[in-house]
Amino acid sequence: MRFMSKVAILFLLAFVYSPGQELKYIEYDTDLLPTSFHKSRRDSLRAKIGNDAIAVVYSNWERVRNGDVEYQFRQDDNFYYLTGFPEPDALLLLVPKGLSVRNREDTSKTVSVTEVLFVRPKDPLREQWDGRRYGPEGAMKLKGFLHAETSDKFRQMFQQALFSSGARALYIPPMPEDLSQEMLDLLRPIRSMLEASKARHSQVEVRDPSPMVYSMRIIKSPEEIAILAKATQISAFAHNQAMMSCQPGMFEYELQAVYEYVYKKMGAEYPGYPCIVGAAENSIVLHYNTNRRQIKNGDVVLADCAAEYHNYSSDVTRTYPANGKFSAPQRRIYEIVLDAQNASIAMMRPGVAWRDVQAKADQVIEDGLFKIGVIKEKNVRAHRRFAIHGLGHPVGLNVHDVGAPVLQASMAYTVEPGVYIPEGAEGVDPAYYNIGVRIEDVILVTPEGNKNLSSDSPREMNEIEALMAKKGIGNQPVK
Ligand code: GLY
Ligand code: MN
Ligand code: MN
Repeated sequence: MRFMSKVAILFLLAFVYSPGQELKYIEYDTDLLPTSFHKSRRDSLRAKIGNDAIAVVYSNWERVRNGDVEYQFRQDDNFYYLTGFPEPDALLLLVPKGLSVRNREDTSKTVSVTEVLFVRPKDPLREQWDGRRYGPEGAMKLKGFLHAETSDKFRQMFQQALFSSGARALYIPPMPEDLSQEMLDLLRPIRSMLEASKARHSQVEVRDPSPMVYSMRIIKSPEEIAILAKATQISAFAHNQAMMSCQPGMFEYELQAVYEYVYKKMGAEYPGYPCIVGAAENSIVLHYNTNRRQIKNGDVVLADCAAEYHNYSSDVTRTYPANGKFSAPQRRIYEIVLDAQNASIAMMRPGVAWRDVQAKADQVIEDGLFKIGVIKEKNVRAHRRFAIHGLGHPVGLNVHDVGAPVLQASMAYTVEPGVYIPEGAEGVDPAYYNIGVRIEDVILVTPEGNKNLSSDSPREMNEIEALMAKKGIGNQPVK
């Protein structure tokens, strides 16, 4: 909640003002990425920018949803990758040449540091309203920073870093239009410097560090893979519970509730993206997420839903029959999509071009649609009417993460072929109308080939039907 709202001020005035007790920061999760991981990422970025440069990377900021309510805070991907720090209004300063700062334990001494994390100050009263803050000490102790400061020290230390180190380049991501007032204030010294340097043609070149960080994010470390695997397993279990719970008469949002219950129950902080549960005419809408329709007997249900665990998002889709038994037309489309998925996954290993993996799926879909008469000729335009998206994408901190044209071990990609037949599709047997099928799995490229991280949820039609014959957690009445 926005602390300084009128309601909050009135509420505060009604009670005796008390500065409160300092709240100690407590970190509950024990399986976060280790601080050594984030430190190694900062070491890499420092090496990439070189000794003649400094870098500033900033956190996300809180955004207003409506009135006094904010969206649940989620850290910026690159900032999280480099710091593991989960709070808003924080800045990371990297100074490869070293910056002389006062020693926090013995302030009469100075010490040279190559990085400083600037964070919100401790504030007992605000923390009792809005939640605990790490503060500089907490950031150093729990996040492994050699040096952290409150953000009011940023101006002076940034200027010191820029001028005393004789930096020739400043790396900073471009500042978006919608920065909060807090963030604008924090970044003011940089904005003033940029304006001044424009006027007098400064020697300091401004560059964006983001592409360097993106290139580091392509190959996942073993620690990242463990977290992505957990996000994916949670998503697979959620799909299983949704399939077991699904029955005609339920609303799409009731299945969404099953997914979100399982995410939270298993410790995932957020959905990786809004849950897509589309029955019948909604199964053909790729990113449908209003989820308000009632599910009817004979519908196909396409559910593209996955959890985000410790900032890593999975991305899994299952398509199932509302009544637990695939109809003959649903079965024919499903088989084509599953064949395309299996054929493309079988190709995935280090050294293979992603373009070739995609081409394989295209080929299988084209052949399959031709065989069942949905398309009457074999050409790209014919089957692309019904298979309207690419085969997949890398996953990681972002559900649509960064990748490279040729697969390497420890890359993670979704493989998600889909066929979508809208009502009234010209020249198509109406039996296929409103059938959308997508099957999406998270595939980790391994040195020997690949591993399906979402294999805890079945894809074979007979296995799906067997699972749907069971009862799930979504079948309990809520009273
Ligand atoms: N869930 C979004 C996608 O599959 O890309
Ligand atoms: Mn996807
Ligand atoms: Mn998806």
